[in-house]
Amino acid sequence: MKILSIETSCDDTCLSITEGSFSGKEKKFKILSEKVSSQIEIHRKWGGIYPTLAKREHQKNLPTVLKEVLESSGLLEKSSKIFKKNLKEISDLLKKIKKPEIDIIAVTKGPGLEPCLWVGINFAKTLSKCWDIPIIPVDHIESHILASLISENGKIKKIEFPALSLVVSGGHTQLVLIKNIGEYKIIGETRDDAAGECFDKTARILGLDYPGGPAIAHLAEQWKNKISTTNTQIEEIKLPRPMINQKNYDFSFSGLKTAVLYKFKKTPKSKKTKKYIQAMCFEIQQSIIDVLLKKTIRAAKNYKVKSIILGGGVASNKELREQLKKRMEEKIEGIKYYVPEKKYCTDNAVMTAITALHHLKDTEDIEELKAESNLRIGKH
Ligand code: KG4
Ligand code: ZN
Repeated sequence: MKILSIETSCDDTCLSITEGSFSGKEKKFKILSEKVSSQIEIHRKWGGIYPTLAKREHQKNLPTVLKEVLESSGLLEKSSKIFKKNLKEISDLLKKIKKPEIDIIAVTKGPGLEPCLWVGINFAKTLSKCWDIPIIPVDHIESHILASLISENGKIKKIEFPALSLVVSGGHTQLVLIKNIGEYKIIGETRDDAAGECFDKTARILGLDYPGGPAIAHLAEQWKNKISTTNTQIEEIKLPRPMINQKNYDFSFSGLKTAVLYKFKKTPKSKKTKKYIQAMCFEIQQSIIDVLLKKTIRAAKNYKVKSIILGGGVASNKELREQLKKRMEEKIEGIKYYVPEKKYCTDNAVMTAITALHHLKDTEDIEELKAESNLRIGKH
């Protein structure tokens, strides 16, 4: 079963071709080709993502990226020039080339930025019509969760259920209880900004580049090394841990952003040294991690789960990955820990493929298929 996957929920144009099968007890999954065409350089100028700009870039990138993944998987001969055309022009031309050996087209249906989702969906529909290949719509949050199943050895990882997933991305922060693959319940989520959004917005306040997560993580790491290797006098920067002691599983990160803004504005220019920015990054990162870990561990205990699955762009944060592991060993021994390889934490189409492989019966009529920017896992 060969799957062509398309993921355009945010600012990366992602495509992959994978081969998977569920025969007997063996679940196999092989990546034939994958590509993430990043738009970071374009959005960096503006300090964040502009949906209309992202949509235009997806439209421009999709045909070229399709050509690349088809060629590198060996499903298309390298001579084809047709994909230089835009979506409207290629549909006639697609019919003229030999149909590639693809059984399913998987496409992200939501949640995400509506104009961006539509570009991917319309592209999938065009291919589906031209080549007569069915479409499986995929939930982007489920993809971030199931990214943990991807392994390099060609087998699909096994997860022990019930499981709890902490999904932390630029658009979402959710705690999801999982009875089994396909059976989800959101038990907590952010009431305002997502964790990744908080990284991005606070980084902007500090004058750092977009995306803010990796920028803050980098400077926080420098600060950590400084504290451990020298006797650096630390200026005491203390930030709040919003909702940390509330007995629910919800989060709130906009207050943290406001606290950073006030602190930064109040600090005289002369004191805004490199050291100050590093210390601030360290504290922002730790504040976000502290809240995420406290609620995740408490939920894992209360719901007596057997596994914890970390996922989403923020899951590529080294400190979050390591501190969650350590905290689990200290507080809830015996629970399995799953976290995707870093490149499968941020948006990619391989996670879309592995998710589609678990929903082979859920093909959708292309006339019915539409983007659902606010799709909620467990509600469909
Ligand atoms: O999952 P993702 O690629 O896109 C969405 O679905 O939103 O997540 C992007 C988010 C951005 O907010 C980015 O700043 C954050 O993930 N991010 C990180 C790191 N790498 C990416 N946050 C913290 N530390 C990182 N190393
Ligand atoms: Zn994402």
